[in-house]
Amino acid sequence: MADRNERGKGGKGRSLFISFEGVEGSGKTTQINMLHAHLLRMKVDVVATQEPGGTPVGEDIRRILLNPAYKGMHPMTETILYAADRAQHFHEVIKPALDAGKVVICDRYIDSSLAYQGVARRIGMEGVQNLNEWITDDLYPDVTFLLDIPYRIGLKRLQERKRGLDRMEGEAQSFHEQVQEAYQTLAKFFPQRYIILNGTEKPENIHHYVMQEVTKLLS
Ligand code: TYD
Repeated sequence: MADRNERGKGGKGRSLFISFEGVEGSGKTTQINMLHAHLLRMKVDVVATQEPGGTPVGEDIRRILLNPAYKGMHPMTETILYAADRAQHFHEVIKPALDAGKVVICDRYIDSSLAYQGVARRIGMEGVQNLNEWITDDLYPDVTFLLDIPYRIGLKRLQERKRGLDRMEGEAQSFHEQVQEAYQTLAKFFPQRYIILNGTEKPENIHHYVMQEVTKLLS
């Protein structure tokens, strides 16, 4: 895998791959919007994107994955559909942007598959890791911000929204609890890229901390 300092030599800036992870309702979208807007104001060449659904092909895959009518989807099918979405997204969006020296902010990436499918769906870390490393040429983010909140608070936030729950959000509490624990394990497993943030703090305070870290990485 190419080091970030070797990537993007053809572009204007130095590439940086940032991902955000967390349980449902952890506030990733708010943080990503704030970070994206801040970097744009700083005239940084930045792309904000998401999984599943960061491409036209991915949007269709996302509709299948989150459709509550497909309650009976096999965990293996689910794992492969998330991986298919990621394959398209990686080759169409992430890699070209990094190669062009851009900053990429991604709402969920491989760690979501490791936590949700590898652990909570019991597919196993190794299989999910092998599949996803094959798809992405072993490319992990330079930094991963984990918005850490008790899963119960996240679910409560979802219930306060107007729309109904999608297929994943509607899973049992024990499922979400396992996802939360899996993220703690992943943070220990990848200490060099994981930064844990207290997701119950005020969004402005979290953003301030995110900016401090990103500024360090960009300088
Ligand atoms: P989304 O509406 O984007 O949720 P959020 O705002 O919480 O990111 O839906 C994505 C859902 O898909 C979410 O429940 C997490 C799940 N997911 C996986 O299970 N595996 C994956 O690899 C990815 C990328 C997402």
